[in-house]
Amino acid sequence: MDTVELEKIAKKMVTPGKGLLAADESNASCQKRFDAVHVPCTEKTRREYRGLLVTTPGAEKFLSGVIFYDETFWQATNTGQVFREYLKNHDVLPGIKVDAGLVDLPGFPGEKVTQGLDGLPERLATYRAAGARFAKWRAAIAIGDGIPTDECIGANTLSLARYARLCQDAGIVPMVEPEVLFDGNHTIEQCEQVLGHVLDTLFQTMRAFRVHLPGAILKTSMVLPGKDSGTPIDHDDVAERTIRVFREHVPEELGGIVFLSGGQTSSDAFADLNQIIQRINESGPHPWNITFSYSRALQDPVLKAWAANRNAVHQTQDIFYRQLELAASASKGELDESSLDSDGFVSHAQDL
Ligand code: 13P
Repeated sequence: MDTVELEKIAKKMVTPGKGLLAADESNASCQKRFDAVHVPCTEKTRREYRGLLVTTPGAEKFLSGVIFYDETFWQATNTGQVFREYLKNHDVLPGIKVDAGLVDLPGFPGEKVTQGLDGLPERLATYRAAGARFAKWRAAIAIGDGIPTDECIGANTLSLARYARLCQDAGIVPMVEPEVLFDGNHTIEQCEQVLGHVLDTLFQTMRAFRVHLPGAILKTSMVLPGKDSGTPIDHDDVAERTIRVFREHVPEELGGIVFLSGGQTSSDAFADLNQIIQRINESGPHPWNITFSYSRALQDPVLKAWAANRNAVHQTQDIFYRQLELAASASKGELDESSLDSDGFVSHAQDL
């Protein structure tokens, strides 16, 4: 394992002032998003849409990396430029989602486990040779009546740790994503408790499986009240609790932390990030660079605009550029939050 190279890539992923675009929706997830805006979901339309994102002029000012799904990893622009080569030429790291999705955890109603370890070393070698520098594996942890169970957390963190070690042996930085789901009517206190417990188990398991933590990135949800709890999001409270979880449950030597948006509106996802960064900077030195790795919060208004007029490529790219600019400002704690609600670029659509 080349720990020096892994640490270098991990550091670059969390370059201050930049973040990541998650464009790694599986074809099934993409189908749902496209259905919502009434665009047929085909190989051609997926390529057209991802191409628009990837080739947005100036996006590299705000992006350290882009995560692809297998199909997109091999796709190219209309002029034949392979997306990942295009990114490399713009100093943006190409990444690849390597998990094979969620399945029910037998015996544990309402809980899921992520599959995809079979054949993973061979797939990682192929992706690395083709230019992938980091990978992603997502586990989903639901909060509800009697869940998550320790068995669900254990099964998922075991897979995450094994995936992470396999990535590092292949020269790829693992992004480990134990997403605590926003769905549900749980309280913010429950979310804080569950996220802390999941992270404890995750890092204990990663250490046991000899993962080099400075060469790994955590992708996490924020501490939020359940989407159906009826409790509005209080950005200040989210920031305080999320930072407390990091300080108490994330090892200092970890390579960095990035957030998913998890179904929050763009406005909430940007304002939360902004407050988290402001508050952690004010609270003294901290060991990790922290930024965004959003899918929906960056893409929702872009997808809507593209669906409304697929020929208006430049106008749609302007919207994406603006989303990136807002997210990058938030990642520095420099976002003017008063611009969010009245800003036509910021979507409030939850359901894309
Ligand atoms: P969202 O930002 O839409 O939550 O997606 C991020 C992601 O990559 C989930 O795995």
